[in-house]
Amino acid sequence: MFRQQKIILVHEDLNTSEHVTAYFRQKNCSITCYQSTEAVLNDCKDGKTDWNFIISDFLSSDIVEEDFKKTVKSISPEASIIRLPHFPIKSKAQEPFVQESFNFLKQDIDFNQLQKLIEMELKNKKEVANSAAAKVNYLYKDIIGQSPAFIAALLVAERVAQSKASIFISGESGTGKEVFANYIHSGNQNKKGKFVAINCSAIPEQLLESELFGHAKGSFTGAIEKKIGLFEEAENGSLFLDEIGDLSLPLQAKLLRVLQERKIRRVGENKFRPINCRIISATHKNIESLIQQNLFREDLFFRLNVIPINLPPLRDRKEDIVPLAQFFLKKICTESHIDRKCFSNEAVQYLMQNSWRGNVRELENSVERAAIMSSKHEITLDNFMPLGSQLKLDKSIETEQVINQNCFSLKCNHETLPSLELVIHKYIEYAVNANNGQRDKTAKEIGIDRKTLYKRIKKEPVVLN
Ligand SMILES: Nc1ncnc2c1ncn2[C@@H]1O[C@H](COP(=O)(O)OP(=O)(O)OP(=O)(O)O)[C@@H](O)[C@H]1O
Ligand SMILES: [Mg+2]
Repeated sequence: MFRQQKIILVHEDLNTSEHVTAYFRQKNCSITCYQSTEAVLNDCKDGKTDWNFIISDFLSSDIVEEDFKKTVKSISPEASIIRLPHFPIKSKAQEPFVQESFNFLKQDIDFNQLQKLIEMELKNKKEVANSAAAKVNYLYKDIIGQSPAFIAALLVAERVAQSKASIFISGESGTGKEVFANYIHSGNQNKKGKFVAINCSAIPEQLLESELFGHAKGSFTGAIEKKIGLFEEAENGSLFLDEIGDLSLPLQAKLLRVLQERKIRRVGENKFRPINCRIISATHKNIESLIQQNLFREDLFFRLNVIPINLPPLRDRKEDIVPLAQFFLKKICTESHIDRKCFSNEAVQYLMQNSWRGNVRELENSVERAAIMSSKHEITLDNFMPLGSQLKLDKSIETEQVINQNCFSLKCNHETLPSLELVIHKYIEYAVNANNGQRDKTAKEIGIDRKTLYKRIKKEPVVLN
């Protein structure tokens, strides 16, 4: 049942790895062996996630099993991670899968149990794949997201792509409203026309009318030539009216008429021309509140809002953050002709914890800046901080005073608080430095066990001044 699966085995012992490899090869699976979970994480962060299962006994793991699982899942939520099962008591009779030739190896892996675990996992995956979310048919390859809220919005977009119904996309600035509008347009297999977009807030009112509906030659000063409007340009395609909440009331009235009658009249002409395009509109403003304040016509809203799609802010769909960040990082490296980079664990933690008030746009800009700022393969937390305000101990505070008060200062000019892990790490780094690198003395001074300190430093090395 589990033929052709791509498996990663993490085991310190090469003999065991050979043994398990032979077993999976018999089953026509491809298997790659790693000696440490750290090495797997590094490849994961480099975007190498072309596998279905990670199998490890986690006994020789440098990283705590739960932390490893959490990090892998944040990068690749589809990942299946299985703990290599062992027999409670070693017995040859319990090794039916092991061929004669391997019997000399002192192995106690319960292959029966392993097969069951994999089969159970495959069954679960199949069930998930049959669920609505997995039915999303990705039409537009540059749209990234896997959170339930994002998938739900994609499903609506796909369902309505073939229809002509007007679509109203709401969401904070930078949530991807224009990306979605494009996605809907590209998903319409019957479209013959173009995707035409206009930002209603960026164009002065008089000009906007002629932009939308076109004008006749000489209809106003400056109209040297006749011009077709965007409604006509989007014939058999889609017209995207961005920032519709900023449309003036007189233009709202004109737009309402156009939508009711499905025909337009160019400025300075008497002739009516039929229109045939799908209207997609969007705003980051609260349209209901604009209606209440009589700044937006309710009747126009009803016309535009046949199919509503809401894009939640990024902070409410955290599952999308890492895939989006990796997508942008890959894009930036390719465009800038630089070697592929990856995010450090701390950087991934920061990405997940930041509030991203500017949503996907802010994330994209931050990743771009961090990729440029980092001179190394790995993008670290510092690369995300604004220039000159890197996350570090504030040395302007007198050391004496800091130690006396049993505290230290962490300078962070960012909107979100640093994680507790980071504060602990920075404190340990500070304390080790204050003790001239003497770890035992440091452990004693800050009141933790020597082993705990060593373990922490091994996990996240400290920088000595
Ligand atoms: N799901 C996504 N996948 C890939 N890129 C995305 C996604 N969502 C947004 N982006 C990127 O984020 C940036 C902002 O997206 P977009 O312009 O569509 O946002 P918006 O909601 O229209 O913002 P505004 O309200 O400010 O006009 C763009 O560079 C876009 O390519
Ligand atoms: Mg927009």
